[in-house]
Amino acid sequence: MEELVRLSKARGFAFPSAEIYGGFRSTYDYGPLGVLMARNVKDAWWREMVQLRREVVGLDAAVLSSPKIWEASGHLKSFADPLVDCRTCKQRWREDHLPTTEDGKPQCPSCGGTDFTEARPFNLMFKTFVGPVEDESAVAYLRPETAQGHFVNFANVLQTEHLKPPFGTAQIGKAFRNEITTGNFVFRTREFEQMELEYFVPPDEAPRWFEYWCTERLNWYVRFGIPRDMLRLRPHTKEELSHYSAGTADVEFAFPWGWGELEGIANRTDYDLKAHAEASGETLEYFDSTTGERYVPYVIEPAAGVARTMMAFLIAGYTTDEVGGEERTVLRLHPRIAPYQVAILPLSKKDTLLPLSQEVLQLLQPVAMCDYDDTRSIGRRYRRQDEIGTPLCVTVDFASLEDKAVTIRDRDSTAQERVPIDRLVEAVASRIAW
Ligand code: GAP
Repeated sequence: MEELVRLSKARGFAFPSAEIYGGFRSTYDYGPLGVLMARNVKDAWWREMVQLRREVVGLDAAVLSSPKIWEASGHLKSFADPLVDCRTCKQRWREDHLPTTEDGKPQCPSCGGTDFTEARPFNLMFKTFVGPVEDESAVAYLRPETAQGHFVNFANVLQTEHLKPPFGTAQIGKAFRNEITTGNFVFRTREFEQMELEYFVPPDEAPRWFEYWCTERLNWYVRFGIPRDMLRLRPHTKEELSHYSAGTADVEFAFPWGWGELEGIANRTDYDLKAHAEASGETLEYFDSTTGERYVPYVIEPAAGVARTMMAFLIAGYTTDEVGGEERTVLRLHPRIAPYQVAILPLSKKDTLLPLSQEVLQLLQPVAMCDYDDTRSIGRRYRRQDEIGTPLCVTVDFASLEDKAVTIRDRDSTAQERVPIDRLVEAVASRIAW
């Protein structure tokens, strides 16, 4: 984990936010490589959840939201964690995250004390004010999940898209929670991005769709490179269930500190649509004009986090091996998840190679995210690309000027193949295909 955090910062995946001021409370800024990788994670999710389906449409709701939404959804009342204070060192903790002593008593991670105040609920929503007056009528919240944006737009989407259950709305966007305990790098932060699908189904089909989405989502992680034995599906106990859920299972990943949640898949029943219908006075139901049937759909919700998914891909992909008697670090990322798909590496910095190298770069830029590096020795440049997970390196050498061909080097096998430049786009595209 330490090595991953080091690599993340050194290579520009994630930097502690406001680092020049000593950092800011577990917030992170994504650097050049982190931004590329996060985009790829979101694209891979969007492709499978929206692009390859006919019955799922996109949505992008506001982050700044009316208190009425959170009152109706139950978040104002129930979206809280149990908070305790250590009586010895006065530090504040989330009760259910405290480690325990050998005899099972909760223990303060800071001073080791075991004397705590009674637990009290702490609402996790960030409150702010809209407009110039900071009074109760101006209160707004930063959304703690993207999900409610789907429910309050249910009638709008139904009207514009003429969909029939089962259908879904998909959304990727920021959410904010005033988490009491953050940590483990970007695993738990106060500002994070979610990828959520709300899948509206006939109530009697909900159990079947719940199973369907558990399988689909688990397979998605495997498809994009996480070994199956580093994943598990863990059903929630009754005590763990959110206030809206009739059943939830988490996709968990074997993090270095133990199993941790990547995604929750919940059967939210008709809880949210009914709550918003009652609070707003609007009808939020599906009416089938051919059968005359009318009902409030149940919702199956696969809800994933971008940063946790990135972390899992980085951890699962991080390996070391030996090439030519030298140890190398390789990030074995899926070509569609890796920040760059291709690196163009002129063998020498000499001007003679420059025009052809630029030509190769311009050929490949429309089909792949390309890095271009003409510094240092070729061996060191290969090592850098291996370390950031670039699946293909294209080397332009002096022979390229004569034979109009370049060398493609494969990250994992280090095998090299000479390819004519006029077949390069095809050769690269086939190697980085979805
Ligand atoms: N709409 C349901 C919902 O929000 P959740 O399990 O609270 O469910 C879904 O959140 C996913 O969002 C989690 O599985 C996790 O990947 C991500 N997530 C939640 N809280 C997070 C936090 N504080 N930091 C980073 N990611 C978080």
